[in-house]
Amino acid sequence: MSFSIGSFNYRALVEKIQTPFYVYDSEKIISQYQTLLKALGRKIQIRFAIKANSNLSILRLIHEQGGGVEVVSGGELLRALKAKIPTNRIVFSGIGKTEEEIRFAINTSIEQLSVESLEELKKVKEIAEELQKEIPICLRINPNIEAKTHVKITTGTSENKFGIPLSQIEEASKLITKSAYLTYLGLSVHIGSQIQSVEPYQQMFRVIKEIAQNLKTKGYSFKRLDLGGGFSVPYSTDELPFDLTAYAKALKEELGDLDYELVIEPGRYLVAEAGVLLTKILYVKRTPNRTFVIIDAGMNDMMRPALYDAKHPIIACETGINSTGKELMDIVGPVCESSDCFSKQVLLPKNLQPGDILAITHTGAYGASLSSTYNSRALIPELLVDKDKLFLIRERIDPEHLLTFEIPRCLT
Ligand SMILES: Cc1ncc(COP(=O)(O)O)c(C=O)c1O
Repeated sequence: MSFSIGSFNYRALVEKIQTPFYVYDSEKIISQYQTLLKALGRKIQIRFAIKANSNLSILRLIHEQGGGVEVVSGGELLRALKAKIPTNRIVFSGIGKTEEEIRFAINTSIEQLSVESLEELKKVKEIAEELQKEIPICLRINPNIEAKTHVKITTGTSENKFGIPLSQIEEASKLITKSAYLTYLGLSVHIGSQIQSVEPYQQMFRVIKEIAQNLKTKGYSFKRLDLGGGFSVPYSTDELPFDLTAYAKALKEELGDLDYELVIEPGRYLVAEAGVLLTKILYVKRTPNRTFVIIDAGMNDMMRPALYDAKHPIIACETGINSTGKELMDIVGPVCESSDCFSKQVLLPKNLQPGDILAITHTGAYGASLSSTYNSRALIPELLVDKDKLFLIRERIDPEHLLTFEIPRCLT
């Protein structure tokens, strides 16, 4: 059988749209969402971290499932509003919110502003008082926990820039209660991404519980614990799926007897496995040392391998090709960087030829949302398979269009 996404064979897709492009399967996103709810209980509140995939159609899909969103910039907040996410289901995090972004969040009456430093909290207080508008605050703690994931996606140790050190949480709590316009909604935390073991979460639950109880005995009351995201997905057959049952058990054991509303902010878990990057082979370059398969997708379209040494499965879409014996090849893009390499020394069919299509799978998270126009390349299209229907959910954005922003204007 040749490669398909949902009910669509890859050939039907490449006939309609020029490669490279992303295609997502809505059924996979829905099934991941429902799996989370089933494992963690329907009371858990899901706020999809839209940095993983911020396409408006994906946000609408999450909204239809009953979820809200977590945003980290004014641009992401704008997207959430355009996707008609109710403002009482929008969480705003990030260590460097500008005054403009804080005003936008307060004026939009979002459900939660996750504050990441004492300095930011003072700024939020000043703006809320000036606007005379209330804003619900979660203090994002830095629990100093090693999430045992790639160093570039670890966020919860004292060497990371995220969250408020535990030693400053009481001072921050005091500041909140001093202002009529700051509401103490709760504590939030996020220790990293692609976390494969439940153990760091268990440690984190214990830390957040201890802090919440300690604050309670000191007279600070709040109702929410936002536990962040980070659940891994298996990017290869030797990786196991994240053990949601063990996570749910740890959650119940550590926090089950407390009366807080619980929120999670998954990104990758909901969308990674739903996405595929379809790309065409331009050349098969044989040198004395290596065989390079040069494809039309580059690191600007999918940064994860260059940025985090991430490895994604690569599949030759046509069945006939696959039956011909295999050869070790490097799958590389056209961008002028040696890091523009999707996989080194991967076994693929010997008779791959220019024009053949490859599927780079598990690319629904941190794929399109991390892409750039480096080397003056286009931003590639995104498609959505929704049962028996196929939608173009983002047009290709060509260099020609981008050049229209480069007409000089004299500012003096
Ligand atoms: C504050 C916050 N919440 C949630 C997430 C989502 O993480 P993941 O995609 O690993 O679930 C991130 C990702 O970096 C984040 O920074």
